[in-house]
Amino acid sequence: MSIYINQDLLQFHLTNGQISYIFYIGPTHQPVQLYTGPHIEDADYTFLEHQQSRPVSNYMIENDTTFSHEHTLMEYPSFGSTDFRSPAFEVRHPDGSHITNLEYEHYEVRHQAPVLKDLPHVRQSQQNVETLIIYLIDPVSQLRVKLYYSLFDDMNIIARHTEFENTGVNTLTLTRALSMNLDLMSDSFSLVHLSGAWGRERHVTQQSLSPGTFEIQSLRGHSSHLHHPFFALAQPNTTEDSGLVYGMSFAYSGNFLGHVEVDNFNKTRASIGIHPEYFSWQLTPGTQFTTPQAYLAIGLAGFNDMSQQFHRLVHTYLIAPQWRNHPRPILINNWEATYYDFTEDKLVAIAEKAKELGIEMFVLDDGWFGSRNNDQEGLGDFFINKTKLPKGLQHLNQRINDLGLDFGLWMEPEMVNKQSKLYAAHPDWVIQTPNRTMSHGRYQFVLDYTNPDVIDYVYHEISNILDHTNIKYIKWDMNRSMTEVFSSRWPTEQQGEIYHRYILGLYDLLHRITTRFPNILIESCASGGGRFDLGMLYYTPQIWTSDNTDAYQRQWIQYGTTYLYPISTMGTHISKSPNEQEHRLMPLTTRANVSYFGTFGYELDLTTLDQATLETMKQQVTFMKTHRSLLQFGKFFRLLNPSHNEFTAWMVVDADCNRAIVGVYKHLNTINNGRHRVVLKGLDPSAHYHIPELDLIMAGNALMAIGIDIPDTSNGELRNGEAKTYDFDSWLYTLERV
Ligand code: DGJ
Repeated sequence: MSIYINQDLLQFHLTNGQISYIFYIGPTHQPVQLYTGPHIEDADYTFLEHQQSRPVSNYMIENDTTFSHEHTLMEYPSFGSTDFRSPAFEVRHPDGSHITNLEYEHYEVRHQAPVLKDLPHVRQSQQNVETLIIYLIDPVSQLRVKLYYSLFDDMNIIARHTEFENTGVNTLTLTRALSMNLDLMSDSFSLVHLSGAWGRERHVTQQSLSPGTFEIQSLRGHSSHLHHPFFALAQPNTTEDSGLVYGMSFAYSGNFLGHVEVDNFNKTRASIGIHPEYFSWQLTPGTQFTTPQAYLAIGLAGFNDMSQQFHRLVHTYLIAPQWRNHPRPILINNWEATYYDFTEDKLVAIAEKAKELGIEMFVLDDGWFGSRNNDQEGLGDFFINKTKLPKGLQHLNQRINDLGLDFGLWMEPEMVNKQSKLYAAHPDWVIQTPNRTMSHGRYQFVLDYTNPDVIDYVYHEISNILDHTNIKYIKWDMNRSMTEVFSSRWPTEQQGEIYHRYILGLYDLLHRITTRFPNILIESCASGGGRFDLGMLYYTPQIWTSDNTDAYQRQWIQYGTTYLYPISTMGTHISKSPNEQEHRLMPLTTRANVSYFGTFGYELDLTTLDQATLETMKQQVTFMKTHRSLLQFGKFFRLLNPSHNEFTAWMVVDADCNRAIVGVYKHLNTINNGRHRVVLKGLDPSAHYHIPELDLIMAGNALMAIGIDIPDTSNGELRNGEAKTYDFDSWLYTLERV
């Protein structure tokens, strides 16, 4: 791993031997991007910044009619001085002007990754990181900007963020401060991103680019169910296993913008960061603003390679070390079993059954506190609901522990209902705009996390519970988007800071809780997958993937989620059939076969199931315990995309390619169709593997060339001894090197 610096040319070349990222300081003293892609040898690449005189062009350099920012790949562009594309940042100066020209000052190299105070960032785990910092200054306003680039020797990712520091004498207002910009010398890309809505989150979406702009965003105060803080630009004909892909993602949980702009000169600009709408930040003299961290992953061999880079980032650098290889507990959650209607004995009865199955943890969901008997009251109060749990939380906790299960608890610490003691005492602790309607979502309101008193209150209440119980897990829920965003705690000119200050408050609280209780596992949740992002994963190593537990729809959701996130981060539960969300009947085997590729748990009333079902579940739990490390920490490969096939398929392989598990899921029976095979990946080509489910031994290279036959019999006549297959059937194959 090296950062080559050519002092004469002022060319900077970051490379880890796999990828190269090259820019130089151009004729206007601003950094100019030259090349990003597969590793190339170090040489003078400034010729790539080829300029020519063009009609109707504008030039910053007097008497020069060749160098225009409009026709240049800019590293961290500003608007208005010959570049007409969307900028990476914007500043409003005291006189109302908005031109800022950042000129190169000097650089610095550090042999460590930067620590972003108050924001998620790659953790210092090993000595394999180098960071280049480019110092720029606007000579007029004395705004100093530092561009950070961290490079890793074990993953093809460049971590970036930007720091703004006002070293002048006037107050400046930042109105746009994206974390990363990448200009590319091509417009020949297809754009991939993850899109959806509640219950159908993160479906993979792909489209060709054409001149113009395309944006994905959230202005909901959380990263959202709708779009995801991620997109990828893929060269034409990129597949799962071949082609060059630039993936951009963002370690942030609030409003974001992903911007892709194809100009009329065959160039593409891609940037990601905090959404500039309703954002501004006062930079008084001497103060700083730090953007969240963003990541550029370069997939040299298709989408799967890009995903591997992101998985490594999450697993090795973002998740807290104590959870890195920590098998996730198999849990039973009472939500879909009881909703708000439970007693201590009912919960214990479910837990007793869970223990018989070998389940390891019981999680008490919503409804245990305040006057919470429905979704209209109680949020904000943390005292126990004595009607339902008259003997208190610790009493229940102890009974669960006495059964041999760990105990976990749901909470929604960012919200308040009007019908609560907290709201009665502090109606001003809510995000709201004076004299305007205060819109509710699920009858609840968002606590003002920009107010340190609110954070202190919530911190104290949560700590008090954790200090007086033996809780091992928290489900941290958040069930509405933000509206009428304003905080009376802040002056007029700082109201543009509220969305971001909210997220800083949330991160501060999560930091305080995870520091004081480092061994309590937190699973975050936002009506399912409404805040599944790298920012939350920094504090909460797993996230409830979706409220939709239907194993059919889950195939799309989980498939898309794996574009960025490893299996260990994805909350997956077996729920009842017909399913609560989609009312679909689903074989228990398929419900399990989908849930194995996640944290795995149950969410249904075990006391109502017959003995045969419980026996099957017991076998499922045993299977998960046996294969949990491989499933959660193995290398993951997508095999068949549910959107393009009649089947979904994926697999995991362990680090030594000794063991693998393949999951194959049929959608609907199709009459008189051909037979299907699924070609495997990631195996040792020279090894042989035993597949007990098929009573087969086959070479790795054959499995990766020919694959295995899917025993779907709906397509024709039954062969000897073959069983009939049905809609939504699925198969699991466990491979072992012989
Ligand atoms: C939304 C979550 O996604 C559900 O799993 C459940 O915890 C409910 N909230 C409880 O209100």
